[in-house]
Amino acid sequence: MYTGLLHLHNLLRYVIVILLILAVVKSFIGWFGKKEYTAADNKISLFLLISAHLQLLIGLALYFIGGHHNAWQNVAETMKSDVTRFWSVEHIASMIIGIAIITLGRIMAKKGKSDNAKHRRQAIYFVLAMVLIFSSIPWPFSAVARPWF
Ligand code: HEM
Repeated sequence: MYTGLLHLHNLLRYVIVILLILAVVKSFIGWFGKKEYTAADNKISLFLLISAHLQLLIGLALYFIGGHHNAWQNVAETMKSDVTRFWSVEHIASMIIGIAIITLGRIMAKKGKSDNAKHRRQAIYFVLAMVLIFSSIPWPFSAVARPWF
């Protein structure tokens, strides 16, 4: 079960990466090009929100099933190792904050009074989430690395 969830979590990363890039690029084009906020823009942000929340649920399951929460029993030891610190603290904290920013960005964009305000708000929030999420993914070239697939 753990391995299946880990594969799903790994693959869902690409859905989030692609949707985030698409949403950010479209928001900046919409913002600076003074374009309409279309139904397609809304759909991309909705699918991003759903995938991010699904990733959060799978991540929480991995965290508890995989026993990463036990790291809190000896905090000093956990913090000493780059690997245990990454999985028990850094990955989880950055991702939860990143997903919260995506959620907030969608809410704020919906509340925007004009199409330009919607694009601007979405661009700012999603860029912040993107920096946080992309920098906390264990890429094959990161300090704590995992394979591409
Ligand atoms: C956008 C959000 C996230 C992305 C893109 C992401 C990405 C990843 C990736 C690529 C892996 C490695 C998968 C593999 O080795 O095949 C991983 C592992 C993991 N993630 Fe996430 N993650 C996200 C959010 C979360 C959240 C919110 C949590 C917990 C609350 C979490 C907990 C974990 C755990 C426990 C592991 C497994 C560590 C191990 O191998 O034991 N992730 N994540």
